[in-house]
Amino acid sequence: MNILLLNGPNLNLLGEREPDVYGTMTLVRLVKAATAHAKKKGAVVRARQSNHEGELIDLLHAHRKWADGVVFNPGAYTHYSYALRDAVAAVAAPTIEVHLSDVTKREPFRRVSVIEPVCAGRCYGKGLRSYLDAIEILVLLSPGRRP
Ligand code: DQA
Repeated sequence: MNILLLNGPNLNLLGEREPDVYGTMTLVRLVKAATAHAKKKGAVVRARQSNHEGELIDLLHAHRKWADGVVFNPGAYTHYSYALRDAVAAVAAPTIEVHLSDVTKREPFRRVSVIEPVCAGRCYGKGLRSYLDAIEILVLLSPGRRP
């Protein structure tokens, strides 16, 4: 199966950005680890990152026929981007929303996700493990795995 691993704004600064909240792993290392994990599960990953809402929408559109599933960390757009929510809803492949931090235990504005209702699942608060869990969920959801 094919998985689009999409990271939103400020996630390019992982490793140096608020390490007490997001850890010290860089995005490059995170993508490598997620790609290796997916490979073990028989999945191929295309990883993309953008700081721009419209570009994230374009990436979802561009990969919609290739991807069998999407692992998406929309960053702060999670909390207010109806345009991204619509883009996720427009893509047939299931999307799993991921977050490194536990967004349910931080500032009140982070407890709201406008993306969650159009996602097949949500993994948060476990750093890299959130991404690995999301990949595993997509593999389990893939048509070949259904009874
Ligand atoms: C985040 C949580 C968001 O609230 C925040 O804006 C981010 C990162 C996370 O991975 O924990 O940029 O998505």
